[in-house]
Amino acid sequence: MIYLSRLLTDRAMDRLHALGHPVRVGREEPPTRAELMAGLAGAGAAVVTLTERIDADLLAAAGPQLQIVANVAVGFDNVDLAAARAAGVVVTNTPGVLDRASADHAFALVLAATRRIAEGDRLIRSGQPWVWGPRMLVGLDVSAGATLGILGYGRIGAAVARRALAFDMRVLATSRSATPGRTDGAVRFVDTATLLAESDVVSVHTPLTPQTRHLIDAAALAAMRPGAYLVNTARGGVVDERALIQALRRGHLRGAALDVFEGEPAVNPDLLDAPGLVLTPHTASAGEATRDAMGILALDNVAAVLAGRPPLTPVG
Ligand code: GLV
Ligand code: GLV
Repeated sequence: MIYLSRLLTDRAMDRLHALGHPVRVGREEPPTRAELMAGLAGAGAAVVTLTERIDADLLAAAGPQLQIVANVAVGFDNVDLAAARAAGVVVTNTPGVLDRASADHAFALVLAATRRIAEGDRLIRSGQPWVWGPRMLVGLDVSAGATLGILGYGRIGAAVARRALAFDMRVLATSRSATPGRTDGAVRFVDTATLLAESDVVSVHTPLTPQTRHLIDAAALAAMRPGAYLVNTARGGVVDERALIQALRRGHLRGAALDVFEGEPAVNPDLLDAPGLVLTPHTASAGEATRDAMGILALDNVAAVLAGRPPLTPVG
């Protein structure tokens, strides 16, 4: 039996039913912990999303017949990999299929923050009179030679770099696998300190791990250029939100954009009036074709494992 914790897109649901296994399907909303436990009980495969925390207790409650947890996301910090390994459960994610959509969104946030799109929208809706002005809502020209720093040059980071290069930006990146001084085309790899010091816009693309929690803390923000911008489409925990709010309030950063939050889906109320901040509700991969592809890849992993074949995109 395949347990699906939440309704996926229509195309992904069609694929689920075409697999021909018995299914147990949750609702559009996230399951409660009790619903998740009941849903997993007796399942051979579970398709879950990043709103479900999969830990040792849940895996134990699911029972020994559980073979795979397929996460419909590229990030998998919601799954306890050590517990899954101990339980003999394969864990898979959905890399690759969401790179372009996520990079599009990250770059949309770069432009929204630097060109003050949300602020302009709010101004018009406020009903206050406005008139074109040479000093009105002026922001950073990214395409006048500004530098973008990509923190974490994986597949999504590289896709963001391609967009930035098309906008005539200079691009720096950090990567675990590329030593500073190396290049990838026009992208130059540097260490984190250099990236923070030389970037006009820093975009975060690292997974959330114990090593990257609060990677962007007060010290990292202070090391950024005065007037720089921060964009986070990775995971909320990579950025210390309280330190970011301070940096925006003090004016050290001119703006920022967040798609992900430390206490998600709760949003720290102080973020709501932090100056220059653009917010989106974890929608970086929310393209139609992308969401279909994420669900289908998760289900292809399930089909492979239930048929005794290796998973397509295992993690850990
Ligand atoms: C979304 O945040 C994902 O990890 O796919
Ligand atoms: C502004 O609207 C311009 O025409 O430059």
